[in-house]
Amino acid sequence: MSKPLYDALYHRLEKVRWNMSDVPFDQIDRSAVSDETIRSVQVNCLMELSSLYATRMFLRDFRSNPDFCQFQSIWYFEEMRHYLILREYLKHFDAEPNFESLDEYDTDLKEAPWPNTLAMHWCGELRLGRWYTHWSKEADEPILKLVYKLIADDEFRHAQAYEEFMQQALERDPSVLLAFANSTKWMLLNPDGDKHPTTFSEGSYDGKAVTDRIENYEMLRERIQTMVPAEAEISLEKRVLKTLSRLSGLELQTRSDLVRLTLDLQAQARAAEVKPAV
Ligand SMILES: [Fe+2]
Ligand SMILES: [Fe+2]
Repeated sequence: MSKPLYDALYHRLEKVRWNMSDVPFDQIDRSAVSDETIRSVQVNCLMELSSLYATRMFLRDFRSNPDFCQFQSIWYFEEMRHYLILREYLKHFDAEPNFESLDEYDTDLKEAPWPNTLAMHWCGELRLGRWYTHWSKEADEPILKLVYKLIADDEFRHAQAYEEFMQQALERDPSVLLAFANSTKWMLLNPDGDKHPTTFSEGSYDGKAVTDRIENYEMLRERIQTMVPAEAEISLEKRVLKTLSRLSGLELQTRSDLVRLTLDLQAQARAAEVKPAV
């Protein structure tokens, strides 16, 4: 049985955790912030709130993995701080989301097989980390630049943690590789600049993605498509293929290699289901 990850992740993440009090909100340069920027930060803030709905889903669907559920205490804390740090920023512009109407965004996520969910969120963290890194570089206002950088680094660390849970799962049951390959393939193909667990409409009981409920999400989506450089997707794909190569022990250099892997694994799974005649 592999070692639990929560213990090591707790200590590792504790060492690098930032404090809200380290962010000098009183030094915000209001002259460097446009209305469009504020609208983007509002959308970022409400997207971060979706970790609340995701945590309910994680604790339900990962019930068989207490180690992962324990790690959720850290993930949820850090994600909710992303919501809070953006909210704190917006307060300086009298533009924070209305606390009274947050239930309008609540989403009930459908039950789904945990290996697919894990790989989807791993990819989502890697992609979101790239978006926030880009927004940090592009921000004209220094405190927003800092806020975006703090969030980006957290998202990359979350991806690393999910990757370790994927490795642990494969050590316990190599057959989950098919689900990992399928989910990452889905995340990488036709990303249209905005594939993330919050934009996955089939995942909700009412067929509405988290982002469908957020006013001005379309504007942020356009910003992602027009502003986030193509290199971000290229580097994401490279990173995903490199990790899946390491985890599978196979050389995956292109998306076609990933598609081929899923087909091979599906064929193997079907062959294993066929009972030999006695
Ligand atoms: Fe986040
Ligand atoms: Fe994250």
